[in-house]
Amino acid sequence: MVVHAFGQTADMDPIMKIAQAHRLKVIEDAACALGAGYRNLPAGSIGDIAAVSFHARKNITCGEGGAVLTNNQKYADRVRSLSCFGIKPAYQRQHKFEIPSFRSLGYNYKLSDINAAIVIAQLKRYPSLTKRRLALVKIYDTLLKECPYLTVPFHPKAAFHVYQTYAVVLKPAIDRNKLILSLREEGVETQIGTYSACIQPVYHSTDRCPRSLYLYRHSLALPLYPGLAENDVKTVAHKLKEHIYRQVKRK
Ligand SMILES: Cc1ncc(COP(=O)(O)O)c(C=O)c1O
Repeated sequence: MVVHAFGQTADMDPIMKIAQAHRLKVIEDAACALGAGYRNLPAGSIGDIAAVSFHARKNITCGEGGAVLTNNQKYADRVRSLSCFGIKPAYQRQHKFEIPSFRSLGYNYKLSDINAAIVIAQLKRYPSLTKRRLALVKIYDTLLKECPYLTVPFHPKAAFHVYQTYAVVLKPAIDRNKLILSLREEGVETQIGTYSACIQPVYHSTDRCPRSLYLYRHSLALPLYPGLAENDVKTVAHKLKEHIYRQVKRK
């Protein structure tokens, strides 16, 4: 299972090669990557099956929920049935009278019609919403790339990044958590960029994942949404640098 983190696809060529060599199925976690691409393929169409998320922090949202993408009819039927108590969903029975039977233990994971309508309306606007995000990203990149205390996101040529998150990675000299708090006092809401699974108590993991830990400790997600004004992006970038330099001066 590969994760297309922050709206940028993983490097899929080597992953698909390994999968083919070992006859493995590939699941794409495209929660953040609706509309993203790898070479000329859309995220979610490269592996065997994928999921996208419509959670509130995603590029298209109806509050919660998501969708499964696959071109495999067997998987599609199974997912539909599992999301609907293990029976054939009502819309597949609408043209004939059929009393369904419960063939497996399913769930109640249906996206409601109301939520679906909200998503469909946004899908129509998705190209313009994405364009706007990318324009704001350009401003962040321009204003932040010269700052020696952070690294801006890397965009590989093979990927079309839809920037569900714009996260910078701070140099260890900067106290990320203090930075979040001091920016918050000025009305600038930032967040940790990502978690590290290897230290989450639930996994009882003995794995050591130094890069994952590094990103957990030093990454910082900046505000990004299509309704954000360009001037606000500039203010965030300036405040971020100001607060970083304040920390550096104190040391
Ligand atoms: C990479 C990734 N996978 C899965 C999820 C979970 O998606 P959902 O909240 O729709 O279950 C998220 C975010 O919430 C995510 O960022």
